Amino acid sequence: MSNKSFYITTPIYYANSLPHLGHLYTMMVADCIHRHKEQRGFEAYFLTGTDEHGVNIERAAERSGRTPQQQADYVVSYFTMMTSAAGLDTEHGGYDVFMRTTYPFHAEGVSKFWRQVAKSKTPKGREAIYKGHYEGWFCAPCAAYKTEDEYTKPQQPDQPPLCLIHEAPLDRVSEESYFFRLSDYGDALLEYYEARSDFIRPEARRNEVVSFVRGGLQDLSVSRLRSSVRWGIPVPDDPSHTIYVWFDALTNYITAIGYGNEERERAVGFEKFWPALHLVGKDILRFHAVYWPAFLMAASVELPRGIIAHGMWVDQAGRKMSKTLGNTVELDVLQKHLPVDAIRYFCLRDMVFGQDGRFSYEALIDRTNSDLASGLGNLSSRTLTMIDRYCEGQVPSGRIPEEKLLLAKRSGIDTDETTIAGFVEHARDDFLMHFENYAFGRALEVAWSIVARVDKMISDAKPWDLAKDENQRETLNAVLYRAAESLRWLCVLLYPVMPVSAQGIYSQLGVGAAPDSNSKHSLAAIDPAALKWGELKEGTRIGEVRPLFPRLDKGKLMSEIKNDRSSGTHATEADAVPGGRIAEETRPSPPMQHATEADAVPGQAETLSTLNAKREQEIAIEGLIDITDFTKVELRVGEVLTAERIPKADRLLLLSVDIGEEKPRQILAGIAQHYEPDKLIGRKIAVVSNLKPRKMRGYESQGMLLAASVGEEGKPVLATFTEEVPNGARLK
Ligand code: MSP
Repeated sequence: MSNKSFYITTPIYYANSLPHLGHLYTMMVADCIHRHKEQRGFEAYFLTGTDEHGVNIERAAERSGRTPQQQADYVVSYFTMMTSAAGLDTEHGGYDVFMRTTYPFHAEGVSKFWRQVAKSKTPKGREAIYKGHYEGWFCAPCAAYKTEDEYTKPQQPDQPPLCLIHEAPLDRVSEESYFFRLSDYGDALLEYYEARSDFIRPEARRNEVVSFVRGGLQDLSVSRLRSSVRWGIPVPDDPSHTIYVWFDALTNYITAIGYGNEERERAVGFEKFWPALHLVGKDILRFHAVYWPAFLMAASVELPRGIIAHGMWVDQAGRKMSKTLGNTVELDVLQKHLPVDAIRYFCLRDMVFGQDGRFSYEALIDRTNSDLASGLGNLSSRTLTMIDRYCEGQVPSGRIPEEKLLLAKRSGIDTDETTIAGFVEHARDDFLMHFENYAFGRALEVAWSIVARVDKMISDAKPWDLAKDENQRETLNAVLYRAAESLRWLCVLLYPVMPVSAQGIYSQLGVGAAPDSNSKHSLAAIDPAALKWGELKEGTRIGEVRPLFPRLDKGKLMSEIKNDRSSGTHATEADAVPGGRIAEETRPSPPMQHATEADAVPGQAETLSTLNAKREQEIAIEGLIDITDFTKVELRVGEVLTAERIPKADRLLLLSVDIGEEKPRQILAGIAQHYEPDKLIGRKIAVVSNLKPRKMRGYESQGMLLAASVGEEGKPVLATFTEEVPNGARLK
């Protein structure tokens, strides 16, 4: 391993069914880590791929009337289309290899690895592989034998038990088998976990593995009779046996980079890249953290750099999203309606890394609108639009000359530029710390603290007012310079999470090459740790300003998504297995027909609401809205019918207000310190009547009163009417 090389892997996915959000998630996280390492100057190698052997693929092929190889090829073609649409393939700067266990060089490497293990002795001096008999319950979807705590007992004695994960019947298997003497490796594994406390992350998962191993390990069956499983790699020197699919699959991590094949070694470099960091879902942690290290110990190959286990995306009932349970988020629907970067941002921001996460389209749309459209997108477009408008499209100087400092201070800006520079640097350090601990959500929160800070600076300084005063030209320039420089830093930090958008903003700033370019102006080559405040050059000509994250129309989008999901045009397992729901001839092909590159680039997807660019600019610059925004708020005249205090809430009054509806509204108002309840009764007030109801102190509040906020402590003074008005009259 060279010092500056880094190797990251995802699991290789079963080629018996089509990928869903869960599979995409692991790839996105790995992609993010990969891009980050590249930015940090590592020569990084990123593997993903498919696990193509075993009884499941054989069965799926049988059902579809294909050969197992055709079945695998079919699923792989879907995978590669999906990864391309998601910007995860090599062409978009994503994975370096899409590994397939049907590659001939893999079979060569697996045979060599088997031989190495078979000729080794366990730590207790016994043969690591021996022949015996196995009898047990086997779950085909898991491709694993199940112990008693991993299945539910059958209701009737003549029925097979059900796998706890798949809720599918297990097969009773009894046959001759080769065994790996895992039981001899318990102590060696425990010592290793002890010596390398960061080997399995997060901590909670490490503890689970340690207690599993402490509980005692059983030997592992590592072959199936060829008569039971034909589709796989034969055991060297005993072709009547097929190598167990997990032994075969795990070995891909080393065969992919050259173990057991000289040509591959020259092309990639086992010596250069091994050991790898394995990113896996917690569902397959045991295979990676117990079996795989034991195999490697036996073969005298260095152990992985580490194993990181993430949580599962679960449905609303808390069940793991999986094809077998039919509760998956389908990728063609997802990618048709949402920009790739929004999906990446949401998944990394919302899933607490290591824990399970509940997925919902609503949450994804809300996050996109709040953090991307109104947050980062708005900051970027208001900053760039103002540079365009007030500085003739060139990044201004950030320096305020001595003689203008006093004037600048009067406008309310901090004349000391190091304050904001220090804030941004500190945030960068925090961001990197969290990121390198795989706490992606936290890292992103920190990045958004920069967005909030710069937004506030702009709103406080009001550049649109400064622009009216020639004496404040330098102050205006300084505000815009700081905003632009902060944006540049944000692009560098956010590139691994949102490569397309970060590169897009970067190009608009005039400092970056076109997206996907490999030139040194590409964000892939800029180390966030080496950023220096002030490197954005005065005079840089900004690019064309384009909105990157148009606001999504939630209602419209949700009904479109619902339609697509129920119409069943999206790809499901049935597509992978013709003869299932959709017949071969009528099956829409290719499966990713909806998800195109254009859909992936924010601002171009046809389902996103179109923008009135001029209006967006106005909002971006001065916070101005137009009449359609105003009319969204419904204001009505109300009459207070009752008013009372609420126990233990000294600021709140509970009112019932007649706004001309059948029943009065119950409204909580924070005015108790300034209004006596009795004095309010009969008073006509203005009420926001279409606000979502919300609960406070156990009471539902069904609206809001309008009041002026007066003085430093914001004393409320209720808006009222001096002329006679009927209850329910609309304020326009
Ligand atoms: N083929 C084996 C892995 C062999 S690796 C040497 C396998 N394949 S799989 O297709 O079932 O993929 C499992 C992996 O897919 C999980 O570990 C995880 O990375 C990803 N996910 C599948 N469903 C998922 C969720 N519901 N949520 C998050 N990730 C999920 O196991």
